[in-house]
Amino acid sequence: MRLSINIDHVATLRNARGGSHPDPLAAALAVLEAGADGITMHLREDRRHVRDADVERVRAAIAAPLNFEMAATAEMVAIAERLRPADCCIVPEKRAELTTEGGLDVTRAGPFLAEAVARCNAAGIRTSIFVEADPRQIEAAARLGARAVELHTGAFADAAPADRPAHLARLRDGARAAAANGLACHAGHGLAYDTIQDIARIPEVDEVSIGHFLVGQAVFEGLPGAVRRMKTLIAEVRG
Ligand code: PXP
Repeated sequence: MRLSINIDHVATLRNARGGSHPDPLAAALAVLEAGADGITMHLREDRRHVRDADVERVRAAIAAPLNFEMAATAEMVAIAERLRPADCCIVPEKRAELTTEGGLDVTRAGPFLAEAVARCNAAGIRTSIFVEADPRQIEAAARLGARAVELHTGAFADAAPADRPAHLARLRDGARAAAANGLACHAGHGLAYDTIQDIARIPEVDEVSIGHFLVGQAVFEGLPGAVRRMKTLIAEVRG
């Protein structure tokens, strides 16, 4: 199971002072050196954390896969076509939200979602859609031509430990539905040391994307140390 690290919040910290430190590219290189398998960046419409130049610099500097998270807008599709990251994950985006609040409602999406998926696929990008672990959403993503789904793990990760098994059961069913529809299965949002192993036990999940927890944990143990510990927890389950 690959670990892609979302470095957006390194940019959040940089932007707090308006300067150039800490540099998201330096963070990308540090986490890859520590064993991360890829880098995730979400270029938001309002550029609240990473900016266009950050994504361009990371794309140019790393050989590891870049997973470009983006809303299905004409502007973002054009950027994806120009940068050609290995992966694109299409997410819903609301201006006022603190973070991506839920999966994309693929069943009710307008025609541009299909065009976004088709154009990213045509650019040689593996296109994924961020969805709730709901078989209807997963089937709709497959019908649209997505190659993967990323299951939203936020409700599971935020739940009290006693409530997690029910969320986990839904994620397990979602991962099976992804495989049954011929889709790769990724997972992410809110994952931390105490939740990663439950996700790693779902055999269909072949990639997780983790950001906020690791960047926060870096305050205490350094970014490379936090990445290594997360990789060790995954390896304890996956070998
Ligand atoms: N996957 C998606 C689609 C996301 O929107 C986010 C948050 O930007 C993540 C994964 C990472 O979530 P977190 O920062 O909570 O680890």
